[in-house]
Amino acid sequence: MVRGPAGGVARAYGRGMARPPFPARSRPLPRTPFSPSFWRSPLRGSWLTSVLGFVLLGGITVLFLTGLLSYAAYNPGLSPVNDKTPDKGLLGFYLFSWPTDPHWLYRLTQGVHVTLGITLIPVLLAKLWSVVPKLFTLPPARSLAHALERVSLLLLVGGALFEFVTGVLNVQLDYVFPGSFYPLHFYGAWVFFGAFLAHAALKTPAAVRNVRQLRAEHDELISPNPARPTVSRRGALGLVGGGSLLLLATTAGQSFDGPLRGTALLAPHGGAEPGTGPGGFQINKTAAYAGVHAAETSEEAWRLVLAGRTGTVRLSRSDLLRLPLYSSSLPIACVEGWSTSDQEWRGVRLRDLAALVGYDDPPDVLVESLQRHGAFRRAALRANQVADPRSLLALYVNGADLTPDHGHPARVIVPAAPGVLNTKWVARMTFGEL
Ligand code: HEM
Repeated sequence: MVRGPAGGVARAYGRGMARPPFPARSRPLPRTPFSPSFWRSPLRGSWLTSVLGFVLLGGITVLFLTGLLSYAAYNPGLSPVNDKTPDKGLLGFYLFSWPTDPHWLYRLTQGVHVTLGITLIPVLLAKLWSVVPKLFTLPPARSLAHALERVSLLLLVGGALFEFVTGVLNVQLDYVFPGSFYPLHFYGAWVFFGAFLAHAALKTPAAVRNVRQLRAEHDELISPNPARPTVSRRGALGLVGGGSLLLLATTAGQSFDGPLRGTALLAPHGGAEPGTGPGGFQINKTAAYAGVHAAETSEEAWRLVLAGRTGTVRLSRSDLLRLPLYSSSLPIACVEGWSTSDQEWRGVRLRDLAALVGYDDPPDVLVESLQRHGAFRRAALRANQVADPRSLLALYVNGADLTPDHGHPARVIVPAAPGVLNTKWVARMTFGEL
């Protein structure tokens, strides 16, 4: 909305803020962004920057914590199989055995991580826009302390852009990374969050003052050469909030079943109709993509090999069906943020399989798949996950045989575990300390 100087302008400037004069038509405009009067938006000011800063303060802290939880959920301590960042060193100080309760834990933490990250994009862009004149301030460093702060800003802005871009590319299944996504996003997160903490510690006191009381005379972000406002400051905030809400509304549905899933237009595994019938729920890798052929999963060809303290056991699917079968209601929750509601799985308890090769007290297990292509052809589970009575080598889902894409003839399903640890097309399980 275009407002004349008499009406909307007063709203664009906040309580207590001096309204800078509009430039005379004849005044020459500066040509380079290094001149403060090059930046002409009348909306810029410390109040707007600070409000956006507070939203990021809460949002990015939650993003960082849920990201750390996601790394812990992979059980990277089960090195080298699950460890996607083997050189993490001290950064792995907080790792712990990922629990199996509540069974929807990873669905929640990773759903929040991905959905919140996408929702914060407009806020991050608006924050960067609000401070962009500062990035061009000359001289680049006035003192050693100032130089250090500028370097930390490089890490802050670069780190923020890097984390958001790699995260979005990953959830959009655009694996354009040099090497694995995990170390890039993991190390990037620590660099970014270190710079973020320093920035938040330096700026929060000023941000509190800015939000409480505006002091335009000290506000370097206010343009000395403002253009006429085309929107009020409240309108600009509404635009950013509206953008965030739109992204939220077109992403969050990927964590729900029913008609809500259809609203997840931005999520590759969200809005797409997963099909009907007992196997009509999301998959990440199809059998064709993974290079698993029907000939090797048939009753005649497929054997499950169990290895452990007492040796090796080979079981056909019919052998497994003669063992006690149990049911568990568990979701599939993917690192990319999508999840399904609870599905009804039926199969043999992992701890019963451990007992077949000599373990009354279940140990860790290494699970290997028939999968030929793609990541996670093998994954390890902790003893607490094997011991949980709801953890199954599933043979059925929702009352029917597993479909090829859901891992026929047998797949692992463990409460609260990330989808990639629920290995499909299982060929071999090696029990014992890993
Ligand atoms: C992704 C997170 C963030 C990014 C990328 C970011 C980026 C920046 C940049 C580049 C500046 C200009 C620095 C300068 O030269 O003075 C700045 C200023 C500022 N930021 Fe942030 N920031 C973030 C989060 C925060 C948070 C969490 C707060 C605190 C609540 C905050 C409050 C401020 C304040 C008060 C200023 C100074 C505005 C002024 O000069 O009046 N920012 N921010």
